[in-house]
This record gives sequence, C-alpha cells and structure tokens, in this order.
Amino acid sequence: MANDASAVSDTRSPQSLADPFTPAADSSLWRKNFLLGAATASYQIEGAVAEDGRLPSIWDTFSATPGKVLAGDTGAVACDHYHRWQEDVDMLAGLGLEGYRLSIAWPRVMGAAGAPNRKGLDFYKRLLARLKEKGITTFVTLYHWDLPQHLEDRGGWLNRDTAYRFADYADLMSRELAGSVDAWATLNEPWCSAYLGYGNGHHAPGLADGRFATQAMHHLLLAHGLAVPVLRANDPASQKGIVANMGRGTANSDSAADQRAAHLFEVQHNAWILDPLLKGAYPRDLFELWPGTEPLVLDGDLQTIAAPLDFLGVNYYFRTNLASDGAHGFTEVPPEGVERTQMGWEVHPDGLRDLLTGFRKTYANLPPIYITENGMASDDKVTDGHVDDTQRIAFLKRHLAAVDQAIKAGVDVRGYFLWSLMDNFEWAFGYERRFGVVHVDYATQKRTIKRSAELVAKFLRERKLLT
Ligand code: FCB
Repeated sequence: MANDASAVSDTRSPQSLADPFTPAADSSLWRKNFLLGAATASYQIEGAVAEDGRLPSIWDTFSATPGKVLAGDTGAVACDHYHRWQEDVDMLAGLGLEGYRLSIAWPRVMGAAGAPNRKGLDFYKRLLARLKEKGITTFVTLYHWDLPQHLEDRGGWLNRDTAYRFADYADLMSRELAGSVDAWATLNEPWCSAYLGYGNGHHAPGLADGRFATQAMHHLLLAHGLAVPVLRANDPASQKGIVANMGRGTANSDSAADQRAAHLFEVQHNAWILDPLLKGAYPRDLFELWPGTEPLVLDGDLQTIAAPLDFLGVNYYFRTNLASDGAHGFTEVPPEGVERTQMGWEVHPDGLRDLLTGFRKTYANLPPIYITENGMASDDKVTDGHVDDTQRIAFLKRHLAAVDQAIKAGVDVRGYFLWSLMDNFEWAFGYERRFGVVHVDYATQKRTIKRSAELVAKFLRERKLLT
C-alpha cells in the first residue's frame, strides 16, 4: 500500500535525509508493494560445472577457447555459489532484499535424452525452499545463456528443434518446481543470445553471420512462445514473462537522417523483440537495415510467439548516441565529457525513463514491467573491510528516480532488481568487471557488503517501519 508523503517525512531520521541513496519523500519507491531485489545468473555465480551430473554448456566451451574471454577466465568456480548458496541466501535476506532473480542451468537439470537430473534439480529445490522460508519473492529465468553443448552440437538456436527441446525443459521445471516460484521468465535477453552469440560472435557459441542472428532470434522467440502455455498449465499461480535488454538510441542532431538512425537503432534493439511478442509481427524496418536476413517463419509461429504475458522484464544499462552512416544504417557517436562506468558505458538514467514511457505509447497491450536488471561495474577494492562504491550509489539513486518518473507518467512498473547481488563472471569480460553490491574476493570467496548495499538495506528497513 502507498505511504503518504507526510508519514514519510515524519518518520525519517535527519541522517536518512542526508544519505546519498534514500529516495525523495514523494518517490513511488516508498510504496511497500514496489519490489526491490537483486539478480544473478547460474553460469555467472554457481561454478561446480562438472559436479552432480551437470553437462557442459556453450559457455564452458566458449570460455575454454583462447582469446574469447578476458584473461582466459571461465565460470568453472565463479562465486562457488553451488556450495555457498545458504550463506548467499542469508546475505540476501540480511540485506532485507525482497526479491531475488536467479536462473536455472539447463545442463544441470536435464540429461541429453531429456531425463531429469535429480541431483541438479535438488539444488534448485533446496535453494527455492530456503528463499521461501526467508519470505523472498523469486523470479526464475529458465535460460540465461547456458545452452547445453549437446544442443549446440546439433545447431543450437539455428536448429528449430532447440525451441521444442526448450519447451520440454520448461515442462520439466514447472512440474518439478510448481508452487515454489513466484514468477517465471522464459529467456534472458534474446538480443544478446541471437546477436552477440550468432551475429557478431562476441558471446557463445561465437558464430558471426547476420542471417544466423535473425534465425536464432526467431527460434528463441518461438521457444518462449511454446513455453508460456506449458508454464501456465503446470504452475497456474505464478506469473509468466520474458526478460529483454532494451537499448536507448538518441540522435546526434535534429537532422532527419540522424533521427532515422536513432529510430533504426531502437528497431534493432527493441522492436526486433517487442514487436513479435506484443504485435505478432517482425518490424519491416529491421530488414531494410539488414536486407536479405528474413528468417524462415512457419505458419502459426507468430501467433505462438505473441502468447499473452503477465510481465515484461526490462534490463537497462546505458544509451547510445547515433548518426546516420550516410547509407541505410547508423553509426555510433560517443558523446564527450559524460560520466562513464568501468565498462565504458555512459551513465544516462533519462534513457530508462524515456524507453519506458515510449513503450507505453507504442504498445497498447504493454504488460506490467519489472526492471529485471540495472546496475554498473566499478573497479571496487576492499579497504579496511569496507568498499565505498560512491559512483554506484549515485547511479542507483538516479536510475530509481528515473523509474519513479516513469511511474508518475503512467507506466506500470512494479519492481526493480539490482544487477548484481555480487561480483561475478561478467561473460566476455571475465572477473575484471565488478557489478555486485557485494564484493567477492575470488581467491578466498569472501563476500564483503559494499556501501551501496548497506544503503539499500537501510532504506528497506526504514520503508518497512512505515505503515
Ligand atoms: C546483461 C546480462 C547479465 C550481466 C549484465 C551486466 O546483459 O543479462 O548477465 O552480464 O548484462
């Protein structure tokens, strides 16, 4: 229920008003039903890649290939969460975080012939039971990029059959875990799986062909569409949705050509996914940008893909400034003198607000939204037992203020997950880039709560006290 502003200003201490994170007194963030949590993903934190019958994934293969991941890092140990999950759940609960977004490793729970791997399943059953005990709302992603290698060996997402195998996997998981998951997300960021995985090769499996990217995307979206009704049938009480990374493109000038460039960028990042999901059609502009890359679409696929959703998960990190490339496409024009993170990404909270308000205008049937990832990497060091991640504190405060502005403009945003609960394996960048609100010392696996997490926890404690 919403707190009224007078109750807020009466209750908060003078210190809290001065702290660099606490949201403004009139922010929707004070509403107790606005879910505030943290997110992780299986390959990035679990480690134990060859334990209890887990099969190899495309990220095991990719990270073992020289030159693919910075410093040759792999997810073989990562945060050792597979063994330290109890400690990690206690840490999450200790911070008062109300939601946890995690993912299941497909190769951990299903054998090559489709039979369940009991030991792997038991890990997630114990984890989810413990989260429930602590009163934490769970968002479970079925596919956060760790495709079983045996499926890649048969073409991976270029093979239509992978979509049907995914539906089988969704069936198994929702039968086994029904009642212990609050919200299911089918896929995490299909754009990254399709474009980075099959279009430019920066991510596993490392293929690079424009035609592959659009076909892989089609099969990913088909997998999603086939899984949604299965999840509904097996676990009716939970919410069903998908998580997508959304890109904000701004035009470098008022010229029609630059405006068109920014539009095309957003088509390529957003409409490519949202149009089939919410309008049942691919955007035509996409194939003007990438001529000759139309995927093979069978009758009925687009209806399957447009299955109604209970929520849309939006991941947002930065904006991209664009100009026309003089032909039919766009080129990036990085602005100078702006704040950037350890990734080199521009800090641009308005982009999040503008995307959300834009989606509301574009899609009449836009489902309720959760920000399923937002955060930043910084080169955090532990000094005298503390990590003072000042840049992150300001980043989070400003992005949460942008979410509040979107809510006030009428967008139904119901929650926000920090990326990430703890430092972890940042894909092609390995362990160098630290996105956590908890620091991980990879030599000792010691976790140290960063200042940003302390301030989020403090805010949540204060919010809880308000009636
Ligand atoms: C997103 C991924 C997530 C994490 C963040 C920084 O693209 O979903 O796993 O790596 O970026």
